Amino acid sequence: MPYTRITGTGSYLPERVLTNHDLEKFVDTSDAWIRERTGIRARHIAADGETVADMAEAALRQALDAAGRRPQDLDLIVVATCTAEARFPAVAAQLQQRLGVAGFAAVDVNAACSGFIYALSLVDALIRQGAHRCVAVIGAEKMSSLIDWSDRSTCVLFGDGAGAVIAEPAEQPGVLSTHIHADGTQGELLHHRPDTGHIVMEGNKVFRLAVKTLERIVDETLEANGLDKSAVDWLIPHQANLRIMLATAQKLALPEERVIVTVDEHGNTSAASIPLAFDHGVRSGRIRRGELLLMESFGAGFTWGSALLRY
Ligand code: UT7
Repeated sequence: MPYTRITGTGSYLPERVLTNHDLEKFVDTSDAWIRERTGIRARHIAADGETVADMAEAALRQALDAAGRRPQDLDLIVVATCTAEARFPAVAAQLQQRLGVAGFAAVDVNAACSGFIYALSLVDALIRQGAHRCVAVIGAEKMSSLIDWSDRSTCVLFGDGAGAVIAEPAEQPGVLSTHIHADGTQGELLHHRPDTGHIVMEGNKVFRLAVKTLERIVDETLEANGLDKSAVDWLIPHQANLRIMLATAQKLALPEERVIVTVDEHGNTSAASIPLAFDHGVRSGRIRRGELLLMESFGAGFTWGSALLRY
């Protein structure tokens, strides 16, 4: 059975940057509070009319270039998103139209902030069973479309953007394992209200649950591979809150320098955050071929998951 290997990464961030100081002007908050509690300094916000598909397309084209592939090489597109403007067609299907390709499968996955890990896990299974040979896995979100800009407990946290990877079969790993979970019994702690269209979150409860759950997923992932935590070269966490990310790094005894951090500049971009951080790590030259990467996420649902892969 082949392994799944990431052959290219790409990302996209909207041009407009909204800083903490910008937020101070219209909501009762402070740069100091946001930085201390979350590690966020700024986030990118999509332009009016800029869509999830626009951002996904830009990230995907960059990932295809990096992999040395053309749109015609793809045989599956999976987009992780919870912010698509239209319920259908899926963003993945819209991408086919934009790329001028058709006939192969295209689907969106919604597992909120864990969407990219879920998508990668599903794609890994499909590639390993030989069903697909060149797959685009994308996380793309326009979180700004769900924000109540007068609610300081949520509006300071989120941002927009997209990240993409190209996944292909290979004889050598590759993805070593993926682990996905959900517990729908506490979903009200973080949800999208259809009547107002806004995000509602009991932040502190979610924070504590996230830290505990991510500790468990780290143990599960290492145990499944018979690896010690010292084997991990890079932690690529979902970028919700620097304090949560550093708690996981501490559990792994990884110094902060081995954690890919983009939350300071991107905020929480939900399903886009891991592929965005991955691409930044690769393009900055920090993540190198052969290194062992641990990706992990926790988000609404609740959903959580991890992927361990040799890049
Ligand atoms: O990506 C999906 C998963 N999401 C997460 O993992 C997010 C998890 N939660 C968090 O990251 C944190 O809980 C937050 C950053 C959302 C909040 O930080 P916290 O340390 O848990 O603060 P808190 O909610 O306990 O609030 C502390 C105080 C409150 O005031 P009082 O009641 O102590 O007077 C809040 O009203 O901070 C106040 N507060 C703010 N103050 C200034 C809440 N938001 C703000 C704000 N600016 N933006």
